[in-house]
Amino acid sequence: MKNTTGSQPRERHFLPVYRPGRIVLDHGVGSRVFASDGREYVDFAAGIAVNSLGHAHPALNAALTAQAGRLWHTSNVFTSEPSLQLADALVAASGFARQVFFCNSGAEANEAAIKLARQWATAQGRAPDRRVILTFRGSFHGRTMATLAATAQPKYQAGFEPLPQGFRYGDFNDLAGAEAAMAAGDVCAVLVEPVQGEGGVMPATDAFLQGLRTLCDRHEALLVLDEIQCGMGRTGHLFACEGFGVQPDVVTLAKGLGGGFPIGAMLVGERASDGLGFGQHGTTFGGNPLAAAVAGAALRELSAPALLANVSRQAASLRDGLARLDDEFKVFGEVRGRGLMLGAPLRPEHAGRAGDIVDACIARGLLLLQAGPDVLRFVPALNIGDVDVAEGLARLRAALTDYIAG
Ligand SMILES: Cc1ncc(COP(=O)(O)O)c(C=O)c1O
Repeated sequence: MKNTTGSQPRERHFLPVYRPGRIVLDHGVGSRVFASDGREYVDFAAGIAVNSLGHAHPALNAALTAQAGRLWHTSNVFTSEPSLQLADALVAASGFARQVFFCNSGAEANEAAIKLARQWATAQGRAPDRRVILTFRGSFHGRTMATLAATAQPKYQAGFEPLPQGFRYGDFNDLAGAEAAMAAGDVCAVLVEPVQGEGGVMPATDAFLQGLRTLCDRHEALLVLDEIQCGMGRTGHLFACEGFGVQPDVVTLAKGLGGGFPIGAMLVGERASDGLGFGQHGTTFGGNPLAAAVAGAALRELSAPALLANVSRQAASLRDGLARLDDEFKVFGEVRGRGLMLGAPLRPEHAGRAGDIVDACIARGLLLLQAGPDVLRFVPALNIGDVDVAEGLARLRAALTDYIAG
């Protein structure tokens, strides 16, 4: 099967919004994945932080196949056991949530949170110009029009104007700036990633997130945490906010929540509960039994203390390995992030070359991601083992050797 770069790439009938010419993946097991030409790869990408339990996890397969034989879809005119159970389990695991809204993707979860924040403020009698949502430069909240407006990065927004109104941008990790942006009292919600993902794997400081909590309390605003990439165990805590000592009003989830099956969720705490009422929001597939059954099984696995301990252990060994590779190649300096969400910003002399390094990794049998042109991103499965981490690092070493040789 021809897979890539000829004049007729196999993606020729895809809308060209993605880069063509990549490999065609066929199957996987754990942190190894195989292309249709038989080549094997170590997977440090995990479907962009989605396959948190690796490929073909037995518990997820069992949940999916059992549910597939029972009931596939109900709509929200009716409900199903898997979605009822998943909502209960998420509320219990979160410690802060009272209610859950299910959807199918991260953008939809954030869209729901934006709508909830606006209705919550409306119910308090706040005029439209006092329902501003504060987000931060470098953020990524999705590609729908409202989440694009929330995504404070011109490169994603350019050409899509006019964007929905009522968003204001601050600098990430600049608490004084956020304080100034909220001073007029017209902000109804602050939407922030505890660890910015697409923006370059940039963690918030504890002081920044905790300070935002205080500002939200002072100004009657909701603190909405976008944990779509950094949640569900990725930082070594089931919810990233636990590691920052912050209690949010709303958390959005997707990616790792379904371990590879599409599902998103918005978790709503006491302060914002009933912020959206009957008929004010909905989606046909939200809480789909297949998705909910898989996510329920994933949640059980991801909540296990041993799994979360593995995140910290493998993160330390990945950081050690990356530090050794930097000693040898001087391609990236510091490694930043939390848990198994790590970013290696390239040194100035390699600026803009993350894509070339990712290509060199693919050629050496390693799936790796970039976060923009200047940062390598490491988001492997959270249950990755010692052997796969070591082999992935060895392949990265080979790729860096090729890259340096030019
Ligand atoms: C933090 C964050 N929020 C939202 C999204 C959008 O999620 P989706 O692509 O599922 O719409 C992403 C996707 O990368 C993300 O990383």
